[in-house]
Amino acid sequence: MALGDGFIYARALHLAAELSIADLLAEGPQPTKELARLTSTDPGTLHSMLRALAGCGVFTEVAQGCFGLTAVGERLRSDHPRSVRTTIAQSGRITARTFQHADHALRTGDGAFATAFGQPFWEFLRDHPEEGAAFDTAMQEHSRVERGAIVEAYDFPDTGRIVDVGGGDGTLLAAVLRARPGTTGVLFDLPHVVERNCIEEEGLTERCEITGGDIFGELPAGGDLYLMKSVLHGWNDSDVLTILRGCRRAMNPGSRLLLVERVIPPGDAAHTSKAFDFAMHVMAGGQERTGDEYARLLVEAGFAVGRFIPTGSVQSIVEALLPSSQT
Ligand SMILES: C[S@@+](CC[C@H](N)C(=O)[O-])C[C@H]1O[C@@H](n2cnc3c(N)ncnc32)[C@H](O)[C@@H]1O
Repeated sequence: MALGDGFIYARALHLAAELSIADLLAEGPQPTKELARLTSTDPGTLHSMLRALAGCGVFTEVAQGCFGLTAVGERLRSDHPRSVRTTIAQSGRITARTFQHADHALRTGDGAFATAFGQPFWEFLRDHPEEGAAFDTAMQEHSRVERGAIVEAYDFPDTGRIVDVGGGDGTLLAAVLRARPGTTGVLFDLPHVVERNCIEEEGLTERCEITGGDIFGELPAGGDLYLMKSVLHGWNDSDVLTILRGCRRAMNPGSRLLLVERVIPPGDAAHTSKAFDFAMHVMAGGQERTGDEYARLLVEAGFAVGRFIPTGSVQSIVEALLPSSQT
């Protein structure tokens, strides 16, 4: 029963993020009436929403009708270094609305985003720059949480050219370049996405090219290491094969490809990849995959499968090599 009501908490959390309630509590607890005034909401309904979220540890009711932040709630602050505010608010605007059409995805196997929003996801983000920028921020929030674990888990080379394919605003690439000062980088993503890159802000302009393009077209050639994080899960197997073959064409003998994805473990145990898998089916007609599924696709695209490397985050690294470079 409680599981069936989970959407009540999810919607409350989305709305709390959308209304920036945690930012309003940054200086300390506030009475609901004041929060309602600041957010143009109904005090009674807002109190009910905050009390429900206090019940799952996001806020705390420090006195009758007066709420403060818990350690969990702190992460809804926009200025928290591991903030998830934009991710959760956008999930409320986009994922929750798409999920109203989850039955469409279930019956057809096609993603339901276009049914909900009238156009495919990436086109929608291009045509709604405020949502596009929020999506980039959401990706940055994920990458901020995950990048340390990814950089630590893999023996990135000390020199060479690292190409981040579908690299978004460059948050992960910047972390790798910082950790390996002898490397250079290429950030590759859709032209309107790379425009919003963080490379200059990170002081890496001299070491990183910014290239706008299409992952289904020609990719930047001659990299020593190709990175693709959270890209393939957005596509069906046929599209994934096209993308992988494009990578293969761009690579030199000896280059490696690292897929960074939520790899589904075997068995029934709860794992974030399983919920994300369903979400990717519903949102995009994509999917998360098991290790065997990634291995099969890589081999079909002409790669040799290297190591599967867990990281201290929800992401795993799947290493792929060109067959001639296998040792
Ligand atoms: C889920 S995001 C991951 C971003 C980044 N790798 C990260 O993990 O933060 C997927 C990325 O694929 C990019 N993308 C989608 N379709 C693309 C296309 N046709 N060509 C190039 N990039 C594309 C999106 O713009 C987005 O930045």
